[in-house]
Amino acid sequence: MYLNEDDERILAGEFGETRQKMLEILVALGNVYGAERLVPITSAQVSGASYKTIGRWGLAWLQSLNARVAVPAVLNPIGMPREEWREFGIREEFAHNQGAVIEAYRRLGIKLECTCTPYYLRITEYGEHLAWSESSAVAYANSVLGARTNREGGPSALAAAIIGKTPYYGLHIVANRRPQVVVDVEGGTGLRSDHWGAIGHVAGRKVGNRIPIFAGIRPNRDQLKALGAAMAATGAVALFHVDTITPEARVFSFDTGDLDRVTVSADEVETLFAEMDVEAVAVGCPHCSAEELRELADLLRGKKTTKPFYIFAARGVAKNNPDLIAAIERSGARVIPDTCMVVSPRMDEFSSIMVDSGKALAYVPGMCGALARIGTRRECVEVATS
Ligand code: F3S
Repeated sequence: MYLNEDDERILAGEFGETRQKMLEILVALGNVYGAERLVPITSAQVSGASYKTIGRWGLAWLQSLNARVAVPAVLNPIGMPREEWREFGIREEFAHNQGAVIEAYRRLGIKLECTCTPYYLRITEYGEHLAWSESSAVAYANSVLGARTNREGGPSALAAAIIGKTPYYGLHIVANRRPQVVVDVEGGTGLRSDHWGAIGHVAGRKVGNRIPIFAGIRPNRDQLKALGAAMAATGAVALFHVDTITPEARVFSFDTGDLDRVTVSADEVETLFAEMDVEAVAVGCPHCSAEELRELADLLRGKKTTKPFYIFAARGVAKNNPDLIAAIERSGARVIPDTCMVVSPRMDEFSSIMVDSGKALAYVPGMCGALARIGTRRECVEVATS
């Protein structure tokens, strides 16, 4: 892989051991994937932020690093709200260890925005190269914004943040962003027919790691977020196109007749909505937008929760919408920043959780050891308040 003079000096250790190790990670990755060079990035999003997922060895590794990031970088959700962890029921020992993880990232210069929706912070634009690692954020950045990022692991995103570059391969190259499979979504009736998290849950299983293109559907941005997150969870989708909707759908000329075709049937989607009693309800996977918070505030007006109802959102989004947060919390529901239903140990304490997300439906059983039920946002509110 071609490296410029500065890179060679970093690799020789002239700028410290951490930078040297970080560039070694990028070079190794580039060599595996046949990258010819590095490409400068404009931002990084680093996963591996919850102590629940990285544990003491991950923490020790982070604490051994000594450098500063070269580009704006944010964190994925951590295991607790940074300030309100006691109210959220997090134990002291976990909070202590999570605090050490946060401090390690802070020392590296990473902004303590702990969210899988960093795009609400307006940190990227069309055509920019990124090193993001949370799979739903990657799918959104590539598909909805037209930015370019591979699905990085935590260490490679951190390495890219510190070096300011990433290997130029995969989805950084326009030719690799072509649609590979057409997805037909069979129309259904009722609210569940446009439950894009559930549709994505089914579609992801069928398309695997191919780049899908949808036609004849008109999801809004929040629905595209839900669709991509679910496909990234049940498949390995890091980029999808929606004809006439997403920015790159027009870039490629192709004959859909030449591509594989899969169908998501209304029955397959409906089957996911099996009913069961649950101990808690959690929405905001990926983290809620302001519009989704508004919808929840409307749905909760005049109601009182009868079981724990957690709504996850980026701290910045919650902070910018104090009236919506107050309206939601009057019902007894809680808006929780910095963390989420999958990476927080708090959610491990429930044996069954209702979610509105096709991604959470896939992850909650394995990551929280709980049964998961999916519903629309309206159904989640009904269950949480009945
Ligand atoms: Fe985000 Fe956690 Fe879901 S990181 S996409 S809310 S599993």
